[in-house]
Amino acid sequence: MGFDPGLRLMEPDADGIDPAFRRDVVQGLSQPHKAIPARWFYDARGSQLFEAITVQPEYYPTRAETEILAGQGADFAELVGPGRVVVEFGSGSSAKTPHLLSAIAPSAYVPIDISGDFLRQSAQALSRQFPALEVIPVEADFTHPVTLPDAVRGRPMLGFFPGSTIGNLVPASAVDLLRSMRDTLGTGAQLLIGMDRIKDDHTLLAAYDDAAGVTAAFNMNLLERINRELDGDIPLSAFRHKVAWIDALARIEMHLEAQRDLAFHVAGRTFTMRAGETIHTENSHKYDARSAALLLLAGGWTPLDEWTDAAGRFSLVLAQAAAVRMAP
Ligand code: TRP
Repeated sequence: MGFDPGLRLMEPDADGIDPAFRRDVVQGLSQPHKAIPARWFYDARGSQLFEAITVQPEYYPTRAETEILAGQGADFAELVGPGRVVVEFGSGSSAKTPHLLSAIAPSAYVPIDISGDFLRQSAQALSRQFPALEVIPVEADFTHPVTLPDAVRGRPMLGFFPGSTIGNLVPASAVDLLRSMRDTLGTGAQLLIGMDRIKDDHTLLAAYDDAAGVTAAFNMNLLERINRELDGDIPLSAFRHKVAWIDALARIEMHLEAQRDLAFHVAGRTFTMRAGETIHTENSHKYDARSAALLLLAGGWTPLDEWTDAAGRFSLVLAQAAAVRMAP
């Protein structure tokens, strides 16, 4: 990949600094528990490192989800039916999409991504692969309701949200996003969503702390980006990538941990950290069948069916937009 969602939403100010990045970092570092929104991981280098994560031997989700998409096409086709408009949220390289499109005979494909150049490139490549398919890319931030192109409005929709990105949101935000997707897609819509499963903590921890150190480099790249773009002097060698499984919240947490007491400057401000204190950079929530169903129901989606890879590591859930009706 090679895209930067952060820089596209707002123009840099006079110092050449993206004000949203500066605001998020300064606010996040000023809190008692330091945290920086994960979207700032994805500068050009971060996007490359993320692609590299997905092919690490320990990072099973991408392979497991692709196995399901490649193997369950007949099931999808039966439940989804032909003629739907496939709307992909955060389509990126659309790498997983061909499996789905060739299984279900959709009437159009609407990839939504915040990175316009990358979106148009991927959409073109997909058009060449499916010449008969109408492909209409939409450059937008899918975390807010999106207006779909006139050409497809009124047709039955299938939302597609692979990658377990839903797991990167805390449940309250995940529910907000699911509701916003239902609003975007309308009544009668379906949603095919990837959700990573709860499993033994060795497998989970290894997936976010690969032996080659790619995820560690990805996490550390955030500090390098802050130093470069926000005039920082964070001592990189005094930090380490730290991963934890928090069983009570069923989530992996990624942090950057200070190895000693230290002080640094970012955007003209001074910050101090004690040895062992961390900057929280990412959550990845895991679900079992029941918690996945409950999350979807809370977001206005009724589960229809679910599939896992043969090893049961990852799930794809198909759900239907819940009808608005009186209930006891
Ligand atoms: N949705 C992916 C996941 O939670 C994203 C991801 C994988 C990720 N590895 C990461 C995000 C490392 C940040 C850091 O599995």
